Amino acid sequence: MGDTAPVDDWETDYDIFDDRYVVDPVPVWRDVRSGECPIAHSDRWGGSWLPTKYADVQALAKMVPQLSSRDVLVVPLPEAVLRDPNFQKYGANSPPISADPPEHSWTRRLLLPHFSPKAVEAHRQYTQDLCDRLIDGFIADGKADAAGDYAQQIPPRVIAHMLGIDEDRVDEFTYWVRCVLEFGLTKPELRVQFRDVIRNFFRETVAERAERLAEHPDADDLISALLNSVDPDGNPIDHEIVVGMCNLQLVAGIDTTWSSIGSAIWHFGTSPDDRRRLAGDPDLFPTAIEESLRFYSPVTMARLVTETVDINGVTFEPGDKVLMNFPGANHDPEVFENPDEFVIDRERNRHIAFGSGIHRCAGSNLARMEMDVALRTWMRRLPEFEVSAPDEVTWAGGQVRGPRYLPVSFPT
Ligand code: HEM
Repeated sequence: MGDTAPVDDWETDYDIFDDRYVVDPVPVWRDVRSGECPIAHSDRWGGSWLPTKYADVQALAKMVPQLSSRDVLVVPLPEAVLRDPNFQKYGANSPPISADPPEHSWTRRLLLPHFSPKAVEAHRQYTQDLCDRLIDGFIADGKADAAGDYAQQIPPRVIAHMLGIDEDRVDEFTYWVRCVLEFGLTKPELRVQFRDVIRNFFRETVAERAERLAEHPDADDLISALLNSVDPDGNPIDHEIVVGMCNLQLVAGIDTTWSSIGSAIWHFGTSPDDRRRLAGDPDLFPTAIEESLRFYSPVTMARLVTETVDINGVTFEPGDKVLMNFPGANHDPEVFENPDEFVIDRERNRHIAFGSGIHRCAGSNLARMEMDVALRTWMRRLPEFEVSAPDEVTWAGGQVRGPRYLPVSFPT
């Protein structure tokens, strides 16, 4: 299982939770990709494979169901959880991300309309007001923690707003999600504890919402819409599955997007030339955001091998874990010119920060809208900011990477 000894050989003994990998994984991918075998292996954390080439990650993303999404986290859950009757019946139950077809197909189909470009636009003004309000809170101080005071405050509120849950409790939601996806990644007991906290919260919320629907059948929040839908057999959706889908919205929608907003602010706060270019030419926002997503891709997911797979001279056996290294693929020189350079106006940018294949991010329109509003507002109001103490910046990493403490200063 877990092993925190320093890594000597990244090709045969990597550790995605190693501090050096968390702070800067790019050199590791570069070395593995150009070494003897572009797919590294490690026995740590239960064992896994790490592909580093874009073509391999793309090919692996299409291998369904040989590579199953039943277990998308690297560190295995404790035996007691795996034996739990609820777990045996519903599995990890965060569909569609934790499901294979056919459950994947219909649960994803139910979510997509809520994340279409048009549906997402309806939340732009809310996001705009929120970003302005957050900046109002610290602009007179001349300094802020751009991660804690800004990036981390945006996605939880937007998703709470969409789900119609209490926005005053977002600090709690945020803590729960961090206990699952950040602190809990290497501590399965903590992860399980907060997995239950989130699910119990949604069990109550879903039950209340179902009651309320009897009186207000046309309620249009996401939870009510799911409760008003039917499964492929035409039956109302099992409430436990609705709970799992809500859990996913919270978990998938928070850490990921605040990591992306934070990474972009880190970049512009440490690269004055890019910051000045962006502040002076707002037409650059679209390419700047895509480049930020490519360069600092936050999300690495796992797959569980269910049938033998041969790829690039390596054989995965059933029971193995494979990491969908979307971030590493986005630095492959076979696909991106000068991949380790941030090119603010990169024109050809077919990055896979949002994944690839049937599990491609269902929330990408929402994430892009939040990044667009958050960065434009930041650059409009604080165009001359800088990261004031780069050595004090802290990063979270492993499966979702981004800055967690990001001190910045700006003229008042
Ligand atoms: C910049 C922010 C985000 C990034 C980089 C990101 C990245 C990803 C990635 C890489 C996957 C694929 C997972 C896999 O292959 O196993 C994924 C799936 C997913 N994401 Fe996102 N995500 C972001 C924001 C969001 C937001 C805001 C939401 C919605 C609240 C969301 C909802 C989902 C859902 C529902 C899935 C599962 C799709 C499926 O399995 O069919 N994501 N995301």
